[in-house]
Amino acid sequence: MKHKIYVTRKFPQVALDLLATRSEVGVFPEDGPMPKEELLRAVQDIEGLLVAGARISPEVLEHAPKLRALSNASVGHDNLDLAALTARGIPVASTAGSLEETTADLAFALLLAVARRVVEGDRYVREGRWDRWQFELLHGSDVYRKTLGLYGFGHIGQAMARRGRGFSMRIFYHARHRVPETIEKELSAEYVNRERLLSESDFLSLHVPLTPETHHLIGAPEFRGMKPSGFLINTARGKVVDEEALVAALREKTIAGAGLDVFENEPHVAPALLTLPNVVLMPHVGSATGETRLRMAMLAAQNLLDLLEGRRPKNLLNPEVFERRGDSSFDFAQEGEHVEP
Ligand code: DGY
Repeated sequence: MKHKIYVTRKFPQVALDLLATRSEVGVFPEDGPMPKEELLRAVQDIEGLLVAGARISPEVLEHAPKLRALSNASVGHDNLDLAALTARGIPVASTAGSLEETTADLAFALLLAVARRVVEGDRYVREGRWDRWQFELLHGSDVYRKTLGLYGFGHIGQAMARRGRGFSMRIFYHARHRVPETIEKELSAEYVNRERLLSESDFLSLHVPLTPETHHLIGAPEFRGMKPSGFLINTARGKVVDEEALVAALREKTIAGAGLDVFENEPHVAPALLTLPNVVLMPHVGSATGETRLRMAMLAAQNLLDLLEGRRPKNLLNPEVFERRGDSSFDFAQEGEHVEP
């Protein structure tokens, strides 16, 4: 019998086709947020849910009595109530492993763009203001040999360190847990305390998940602790930064600039950020390349099938669900079983 599943957003056809080989698939047809009432109706009869951006609250779960597997098409999972899912015994998988390098590319692109004033220069040329070569035109800041401070040192933070090394940067990191010495050595990354990370970094790049502990991790006191020549790069989650304090820090030149892919109340952007020249803004597209979005979609689809069919995906967010079951019917999915695009 085919599983009944629902996909909360318009999704690549090739991933829907994979799901359809073994499931009856319902799909929200728009590439936008699903109205809550519709979501509550859609989940009533389903066993598997593929979530792309939708918020899955305890209320949604109450409306989904048959739900037994959830696949989240992102690496962050602040859109889910993971504790409630775990309490219900519903295994949840993410697309970790499919998008880290791509997200680090964008973080580094923002770093370069804000340091070298790429967006300002582009506007300057397009607006026809460029009438001669000038020695003092659009001075930016050097990147090579500067200090790159990474707050959070998971796969994206480490991918960022590799990019920094390519620019001969000194790599500092701060995280809840130190990584093994072999990784520190391989990436020439030095673990420093929070104060040193803030005060000695030329570029502070955030790579922590959004949790109650990281909400407003960077606010007015942290900006005051940074160099006035320092830049903030955020491709993690908007709520990790106190946006009001960021606007004040940029206006008052407490820091030199920022490169932002994420915002506190997306898609709303604090109006002041739109007027500041020393900020580069992107619309939450860290993982948005054709190749990576396809890889994410296929992985999310495969994860959902694995969970529904008793295989354990590698990027399971709540392994305790399996452990609690002591379930021998759940095997680790074999590498070869994952369909790659
Ligand atoms: C992620 O994978 O977490 C991206 O930011 C998309 O939400």
